[in-house]
Amino acid sequence: MAINVSNQCNVQWLLLLVLLLTVSYGESRYSIPCTCRPIENPAALHTVPQLIRDQGYTVEVHNVTTRDGYILEMHRILPTNHKPKLQNPFLNSQSLEKESIGNLCHGKGGHVSFLMHGLLGSSSEFIMNSPDRALAYMMADAGWDVWMGNNRGNTYSRKHKNLDPDTDSKFWDFSWDTMGRYDLPAMLEYVRNHTGFSKIDFVGHSMGTRTFMAMMHYHPYIKSWINVMASLGPDVYINHMFEPAKTPLRLASIFEATITRTRGGEILESSLTADTCPVINSTIQFCKSNILQLVNSIRGAHIVEEFRPIIEAHNPAGSSIRSIAHYGQLLSSRGFTAYDYGRQRNLLEYGSVYAPELCLQRAQVPVALYWGEGDIISHPEDVKRLAAELPNVIVNHKVKYKEFGHLDFIWSKNATYIYYHLMRTFLNNACNNKL
Ligand SMILES: *[C@@H]1O[C@H](CO)[C@@H](O)[C@H](O)[C@H]1NC(C)=O
Ligand SMILES: *[C@@H]1O[C@H](CO)[C@@H](O)[C@H](O)[C@H]1NC(C)=O
Ligand SMILES: *[C@@H]1O[C@H](CO)[C@@H](O)[C@H](O)[C@H]1NC(C)=O
Ligand SMILES: *[C@@H]1O[C@H](CO)[C@@H](O)[C@H](O)[C@H]1NC(C)=O
Repeated sequence: MAINVSNQCNVQWLLLLVLLLTVSYGESRYSIPCTCRPIENPAALHTVPQLIRDQGYTVEVHNVTTRDGYILEMHRILPTNHKPKLQNPFLNSQSLEKESIGNLCHGKGGHVSFLMHGLLGSSSEFIMNSPDRALAYMMADAGWDVWMGNNRGNTYSRKHKNLDPDTDSKFWDFSWDTMGRYDLPAMLEYVRNHTGFSKIDFVGHSMGTRTFMAMMHYHPYIKSWINVMASLGPDVYINHMFEPAKTPLRLASIFEATITRTRGGEILESSLTADTCPVINSTIQFCKSNILQLVNSIRGAHIVEEFRPIIEAHNPAGSSIRSIAHYGQLLSSRGFTAYDYGRQRNLLEYGSVYAPELCLQRAQVPVALYWGEGDIISHPEDVKRLAAELPNVIVNHKVKYKEFGHLDFIWSKNATYIYYHLMRTFLNNACNNKL
């Protein structure tokens, strides 16, 4: 991608500004009472279950407690009686158009899908579009029982049996490998218990792939719970990531301890949980739009404009500074390693002075990768390395649109093109040999 030098500089400065703002905002958060919230569209501050209800779907909220005490909230959309609305305007393939996806696996019973968000995301990722263009609704209409997870620390999972996220910094003592180790297994086990289905169609956007692979490293037996793992914008290796996007990751890794000391371990929480101070309100809004655009590839996600205020209210959805610092560590290690706490705590956590490499060979499940040349976060070279190291890649699909970016996988009006392929992959696999 051609990006001129001055543009790159601006981006670097912007990111630095965002980081400084986040730090200073945090310091002021406890001294200035903040009561105002930016409201442009009242629906923007509806929670995910409310937004789903607004669209006329039946939604359920489920809590699950992890082995280490975090209370995670899952959102479930029940399959509808709507006729599948799957007329994909972007596909030329006649055969795909003709087959009704709902009938493809007729008589084989229902399906359960589990959709997992990315870094700083939440279950909101999969519903930020109209029902004929958002993955969660499309799957519910095509007969899936759709569950959406929320990792510890985000808008919906800021809860713990004993720790208070606002006052106990210990609450924020986690990274994404911890989420793979505790959060995903607890949520998937709950879904299996609750639905009685033994196999799950798993979708991970961005970091949803990373946490899935971490889970397989810690709990290889979970392979028997997965029908197919589908990865949208696979995020595991990050060495070819767009250079300016690496800057905040490196800074987070360098300043992790300082930031934790000054503002606690939480970072970039959403407008739904954080009150926004008047002085910095407009700057924060400005930065949010720009971060979203940057992550997607400078030009911005090709979103449906009507959803912009809702997307900006829900994203970012907050996480620990450590999760971001951990990305910074990976840029140095060039691998896929657990969080490096330093020698002493590594010994306690891992039984060795080094943080272990997470083993992709243990992901003995069928994997479908969907990626694009326009994705500056999950670069094609990094996806290539991932595909070569995974033991069972059944689909390796390059998006045909050159400008399709990292967030287009979830928000673009063109994402239906990807979703259609993805559902077909699930069904083919389930019908042909797995049920
Ligand atoms: C905060 O920003 C939003 C939109 O950017 C604006 O509508 C709102 O009035 C602002 N609030 C204050 C108190 O400045
Ligand atoms: C989930 O947990 C929260 C508090 O931790 C509680 O307020 C809420 O009622 C629970 N929801 C369900 C569906 O159990
Ligand atoms: C699932 O069911 C098993 C057996 O009844 C139970 O031991 C386990 O705690 C349940 N897990 C979850 C997450 O509900
Ligand atoms: C969306 O699809 C149209 C074709 O219908 C294509 O021309 C356009 O480039 C696509 N946009 C993106 C962002 O991929």
